Amino acid sequence: MTRRKFLGTTIAGGATVLAGTAFQKLASAMATSDSESTFQLGGDLSVNRLGFGAMRLTGPGIWGWPPDRENAKKVLHRALDLGVNLIDTADAYGPETDELLIAEALYPYPKGLVIATKGGLTRPGQGSWVPDCRPDRLSQCVDQSLKRLKLERIDVYQLHTVDKKVPIEESLGALKKAQDAGKIRHVGLSNVTTHEIERAKKVVPIVSIQNRYNITDRESEDVLSYCEKEKMGFLPWAPVGGSGRGSLTKSGNPLEEEAKRHNVSAVQLGLAWLLQKSPVMLPIPGTSSLQHLEENMAAAKLQLTPEEWKKIDGSLKG
Ligand SMILES: NC(=O)c1ccc[n+]([C@@H]2O[C@H](COP(=O)([O-])OP(=O)(O)OC[C@H]3O[C@@H](n4cnc5c(N)ncnc54)[C@H](OP(=O)(O)O)[C@@H]3O)[C@@H](O)[C@H]2O)c1
Repeated sequence: MTRRKFLGTTIAGGATVLAGTAFQKLASAMATSDSESTFQLGGDLSVNRLGFGAMRLTGPGIWGWPPDRENAKKVLHRALDLGVNLIDTADAYGPETDELLIAEALYPYPKGLVIATKGGLTRPGQGSWVPDCRPDRLSQCVDQSLKRLKLERIDVYQLHTVDKKVPIEESLGALKKAQDAGKIRHVGLSNVTTHEIERAKKVVPIVSIQNRYNITDRESEDVLSYCEKEKMGFLPWAPVGGSGRGSLTKSGNPLEEEAKRHNVSAVQLGLAWLLQKSPVMLPIPGTSSLQHLEENMAAAKLQLTPEEWKKIDGSLKG
């Protein structure tokens, strides 16, 4: 059995095995170098490339408080223990409860923790997400997120979406003002095209893009290439395919066979694929489960050869 295969077997074993000495030794032996496992977001924020998406820590339907608030806080703490220092959230998650929960669990924040929040979507009701990126409203959103997160400055503030009723330049104008006032360190965008990024960059420097992307949904490939060229962070949302049909978390998913062959879970294979795909890739898998969190974080240690990745890509095209 090769070293990689053995590591794979260990990863598939889950949380209890992960804590074992054998795994720790292998993990440190196989750990990628610092330059590969971290990314300089905005040039001055060093983040571990495998982050955490906090959206799943709200109530069902991304609405209200989580049914088990203590567990949700444990997940956040454990994420940090496992090396996460980039957490993605938004004022629309809950709404508000996700940001409040992060502060409740983690404030005062450890040094180096980067919280990336977003504004620009409203939640008139459960299951409803409505853009409102008018500059005045966005300015209020920044102030409210600062308060909820108990921050003096938000490290990364992302425009959650483009509001077709408001020119992107106007929305970004409000974020530039907030940046000039010291309320935001860096600005990011979400759910955008390369053309929209170009327009936004004329108003304010953009450090990151967050679009839907995973091994089975590569619609944003052109945006990822743009980020590589410009050295901007790319945060793929739904990195394991979200919770719907076709997600890598569901049985019968397109990676199932290959995952079995490598003795890992499809979720782990999907996350490892993202990490090897690009040095600017910053996946933010979301979970409300401690066990899933352990499993997901272990994916950063999984290394396959370029030939093996090629074979996996080929199996998806077939
Ligand atoms: N910018 C945007 O418009 C946008 C949109 C959506 C999401 N996001 C961000 O992206 C993050 C990730 O997106 P996402 O949560 O939609 O998709 P995801 O991370 O691809 O998938 C999350 C789903 O997978 C399940 N899951 C996670 N790990 C698992 C594992 N090891 N085994 C089995 N099931 C597992 C979770 O359920 P359990 O809780 O049961 O583990 C949850 O239902 C969010 O947290 C949010 O921060 C942004």
